[in-house]
Amino acid sequence: MSGVVIVGAQWGDEGKGKVVDLLAEHASAIVRFQGGNNAGHTIVRDGEEFKFHLIPSGILYPDKLCMIGNGVVLDPRILLGEIDGLKRRGIDVGNLRISANAHLIMPYHVLLDTAGEVKLGKLSIGTTRRGIGPCYADKALRLGIRVQDLLDEKILRKKIMAALEPKQQALRELSVQRRKLRKEAGEGGREGADPSVAEAPDPRLDLHAMTEEFAGYGHRLEPHIADTARLCWEELDNDRTVLFEGAQATLLDLDHGTYPFVTSSNPIAGAATVGAGVGPTDISAVWGVAKAYATRVGAGPFPTELDDEVGRHMLERGHEYGTTTGRERRCGWIDLVALRYAVRLNRMSALAITKLDVLSGIDTLRAAVRYRSREGAIFDTFPYHQSILHSAVPEYEELPGFDADLTECRSETDLPAQARAYLDFVADFVGVPIRLVGVGPGRDQVLWIGGEPEVL
Ligand code: IMP
Repeated sequence: MSGVVIVGAQWGDEGKGKVVDLLAEHASAIVRFQGGNNAGHTIVRDGEEFKFHLIPSGILYPDKLCMIGNGVVLDPRILLGEIDGLKRRGIDVGNLRISANAHLIMPYHVLLDTAGEVKLGKLSIGTTRRGIGPCYADKALRLGIRVQDLLDEKILRKKIMAALEPKQQALRELSVQRRKLRKEAGEGGREGADPSVAEAPDPRLDLHAMTEEFAGYGHRLEPHIADTARLCWEELDNDRTVLFEGAQATLLDLDHGTYPFVTSSNPIAGAATVGAGVGPTDISAVWGVAKAYATRVGAGPFPTELDDEVGRHMLERGHEYGTTTGRERRCGWIDLVALRYAVRLNRMSALAITKLDVLSGIDTLRAAVRYRSREGAIFDTFPYHQSILHSAVPEYEELPGFDADLTECRSETDLPAQARAYLDFVADFVGVPIRLVGVGPGRDQVLWIGGEPEVL
C-alpha cells in the first residue's frame, strides 16, 4: 500500500504538474484533493503543450484512474471546457472520476469574489477571481451545491434558491456601496446617473436559468460522477500506489500560510486525507516541489522578493507569467527559512527542485537563511506573527553561480560543480533529500538524483 502526496513547497506555480506527471508512471491512480480552477498547470508531452486548471495531471495516462476529490471546488463550465479540449485532441477521458461530494463554483461565487476584491481596493488579496473563497465559504456555511445535486433538478433548484437569496442581497449592497463611493469621488457615469440600471436584476442570477444550465452540466458529467474515496481505498487496499495531487502551495495554506494572503483551502499534505477521503496511515511518502528560486502571484509578504536585474532575469528566463490569469509573477531568491518550514509542516520525504536552468548566468546566487526583524531580532524559523513577516529582512548565504546552459543535462554528473553545490546546500539546510531536478519544461528535461525510484 502506498499513498504519495505531492505538494507545493512555496507560493505555488512550482511545477507540480510536471512532477505529478512523472511520478504517475509509478501509480495506478491520481487524485486532486483541494483548490479549484485557481490552479493552472502545464504539461509538455512530445513537444505538445497541455494546460489544465481542474483536471488532474494524470489524465494523459489512459490506464490510470484520474480523480477530482471531494475537497476540490469545481466550476463545471471550466471542467467541461477542459474535457472537450482533450477530446478534440484525441485524448480519452473515460478514466476521469469526479467526487459526488465536491462543491460547485456557482456564477454568484465568481461575482462575489470580484466584488469583494474591488471593495477591498488597495487591501485586496489579489485572488484569481474564480470564486474560490466564496465557494468554500458556502461549503462551511452549509449552503453549498454539490456535484451530486446536479443529478436531481428538484433538489438542485431548492438548493440554489436557498443559496441565491443572501448572495443577491450581498451583491446589491456591494453595488450600492460602490456607486456611493464613485459618486463621492465625482465619477457619475451611467450607473451613477440612473440607479434603476444597477438595481435591475442581474440575468446571471436568475434561478430558473441557472437551474436549467446546471442540470444540463449534470447530464454531461454524470458518467464521471463517483464515490472517489471508495475508489482510492480499492487501489490502496490492493497494494497499488495512489498519488494525491495538491494545488497551490504550503505558504498559501488557509491555516499555515501568510494569512489573509492565502487561498481558501488547505494545500498541505495533511489535507490530502480530508480532501480525498483516506486515513493518515494511508500516506507513505510526501514529495514537496520547489523552484530553485521563489515566485509569488498576488499580494502578501515575500521577504526575498527582488526588484532588480536579477528579478527580471528570473521573470524573463523563467517565463513567470500566471497560467490562470496571465499576471506577472513576483520573483526572488530561494527562501530556505520558509522552505524548511514547509518541509516540516508537510513532513516531506523528498524534494523536487524545478527550473534550476533559470539560474544560469547569475554571478552569485543567494539563499535566505534567516530573517532580521525591524527591531533587530533574528529569526531562524518562519515567524508566525504577520507583522514580523511583513517587515522581515532576509539574511543570505552567498554561493557561486554558473554560466553553463543546463537544459541538456540529464544526470547529476552533467551539472556544473556550482549547481551541484547549490543543490547540496539547499538539501542540507532543509534536511530532506532532493530526488528530482528540473532543467526545462520538457518531460525529459529532468534528472533523478540517486536514480529514478522503483517505489516512491
Ligand atoms: P484564490 O485562491 O483565487 O482565492 O486566491 C488567493 C491567493 O492565492 C492569491 O494571492 C492568488 O494569487 C493565489 N493563488 C491561487 N491559486 C494559485 C496558483 O495556482 N498559483 C499561485 N498562486 C495562486
